[in-house]
Amino acid sequence: MSYVTAVLPTDQPPLLHQAVDEAVRLLREGEVVALPTETVYGLAANALDAEAVAKIFEAKERPTFDPLIVHLASKEQIDLVADVPPEIALTLKKMVERFWPGPLTILLPKKPIVPDLVTAGLPTVAVRVSSNAIFRRIISDLGKPIAAPSANRFGSISPTSASAVLAELNGRIHLIVDAGACMFGLESTIIKIEPGSPKMFITIVRPGPITAEDLKVYGKVRYASRTVVDEASAAPGQLASHYAPKTPLRLLERPSDFIPEEGKRYALMSYRGEEKDGYLNLCEWEEVMMLSPGNGKLPEAAVRFFYVLRTLDMLGVDEIIAEPLHEHGMGVAMMDKLRRASGRHSS
Ligand code: TXA
Ligand code: MG
Repeated sequence: MSYVTAVLPTDQPPLLHQAVDEAVRLLREGEVVALPTETVYGLAANALDAEAVAKIFEAKERPTFDPLIVHLASKEQIDLVADVPPEIALTLKKMVERFWPGPLTILLPKKPIVPDLVTAGLPTVAVRVSSNAIFRRIISDLGKPIAAPSANRFGSISPTSASAVLAELNGRIHLIVDAGACMFGLESTIIKIEPGSPKMFITIVRPGPITAEDLKVYGKVRYASRTVVDEASAAPGQLASHYAPKTPLRLLERPSDFIPEEGKRYALMSYRGEEKDGYLNLCEWEEVMMLSPGNGKLPEAAVRFFYVLRTLDMLGVDEIIAEPLHEHGMGVAMMDKLRRASGRHSS
């Protein structure tokens, strides 16, 4: 596998059309292309073409037991890929009207037209409608739903810019459509809706930009178990190795827990960069990067989260130390990712 990877800009009308047409042409030929969404960049293929989907797994070196999200052009396409159980139909309809297009992925019983490779043999398919207009335009021009995981190598950090995709997949794909930085910067919230009375049960399988607070109007919200068992038997998407930089990372819940080791080089991922939080003076940091400089805003931190992790990872320090974030709103998803990444090199 060795391709010249083109990066096509979209910031002028003629360039946008060229990029869209080229992406659609490659997708029609059964190729994979990296496309922008409002969450992170995705590695796209025609979801109904198993051979094309196989190329996603190849380019990412992703194990085929990890299923993909199917992206639709509009909510009307749900019936193409999923069988909506009548008991949840009304709740689903309301939620889709409220959150789509947007960063919410819903697990539904799959239709046979969806190749087993897409769902890793599971009876459910994950569906969403992205709010990125370029991405949706490509889906409707193609006339087929698009399967797309985040456009990173398996186990690595999701890309939130075209240059981050290039760093991950250069030479492995033909095309990256560049639409600048992603609006949210964190992957979509994934949920499951189950019948319940008087309220539906909504399980958050992966926390993301749509929060428990946003969802609770529609049912009784709970989180799927966060316990990370051994990698071989872990539920899809729950592997500890997800979201991790190559450099060891430690989530430092209390600054007093830190005893720097002689001769080791450390970098700090700081939330607000405030001295009073107690982290800035813990040692002679090789580098300090802030997620939301100043007063600390979670949506801003989310947009910078993977960029900061990626940049700190490139420094070659011995350990990245991460400050905890407020665990509400988008902070839930970031803390989940930090916990998964934290300490995984020490066992
Ligand atoms: O924001 C996003 O969701 C981005 C953009 C590109 O849409 N996509 C994304 O895809 O994050 P990916 O593949 O990196 O993460 C999707 C997660 C995986 O962890 C996978 O295990 C889980 O969704 N998943 C997909 N289908 C599933 C299913 N049927 N049951 C349970 N989990 C599923
Ligand atoms: Mg991913």
